[in-house]
Amino acid sequence: MAAEIISGTDISKQVRAEVAEEVALLKSQHQLVPGLAVVLVGDDPASAVYVRNKGRACDEAGIFSETFNLSADTPEDDVVELVKKLNADPKFHGILVQLPLPKQIDEKTVLYAIDPDKDVDGLHPFNLGRLVGGDPVFVPCTPAGVQEMLMRTGHDPSGKHVVVCGRSNIVGKPVAMLLLQKMTGANATVSICHTGTADLGAITRQADILIAAAGRAEFITADMVKEGAVVIDVGINRVEDASKKSGYRLTGDVDFGPVSEVASAITPVPGGVGPMTIAMLLKNTLASAQRSASTNA
Ligand code: GUN
Repeated sequence: MAAEIISGTDISKQVRAEVAEEVALLKSQHQLVPGLAVVLVGDDPASAVYVRNKGRACDEAGIFSETFNLSADTPEDDVVELVKKLNADPKFHGILVQLPLPKQIDEKTVLYAIDPDKDVDGLHPFNLGRLVGGDPVFVPCTPAGVQEMLMRTGHDPSGKHVVVCGRSNIVGKPVAMLLLQKMTGANATVSICHTGTADLGAITRQADILIAAAGRAEFITADMVKEGAVVIDVGINRVEDASKKSGYRLTGDVDFGPVSEVASAITPVPGGVGPMTIAMLLKNTLASAQRSASTNA
């Protein structure tokens, strides 16, 4: 039987509407407008689209946002200087540096320069450490979005075997830590596997909930999925497609058609995890502004 389609587009709309209501409340009660600074270095076309979508989502939720576009040859020191300026600017409750960064810039140097109190991406070691310690402040947006999708569609991970396929700092590691916590929305038995895992299928076939985040197009095939599993596809890959005007199409890490015949529920690409990432960014930015309102009250 074909799987239930978990629509990130629909769920993210609900989350964004909830954020907009809270933003309005913050404005009326504290005269405070949440602000997000987005730093985009270079001209990677996919990143430009993501950043534009983040700006639009902020506008719709009543969050002030400003994008700082820097040229691809910007030295690392200049990016760090900008981050420090944004750290000190009270207009901004959140700072996001869009990844990937150009080669001459060390990602960690830039991410570590962000004030952890404004790290709405949750990628600063302080926030990753708080997550591992079971006392999260800002949870990285994609992992938070995955959790939100599961919970809002009745797929509580508690007691389930979640297999995460991928070990990135931005998704694989934090989503595993998040769903492992002894907390509502988590409490799963978590396995992490990756592109270097021997007999990957033997691990992925154990999953009640399979999270595909390896960054390889259509890498998870139907034979790697247990009958009735819930499959969350975090991948966004551009693959050449001459039949498209753009010359490419977007596809996930999951071979969607055949896997949807085996899974009980599955997220599509596009329209799955992607919109949830943006919704959780708004949520984190709102939470940061709310914290600053209560600190300054
Ligand atoms: N590039 C792709 N996804 C993300 C994300 O969640 N945060 C940042 N900063 N860059 C990204």
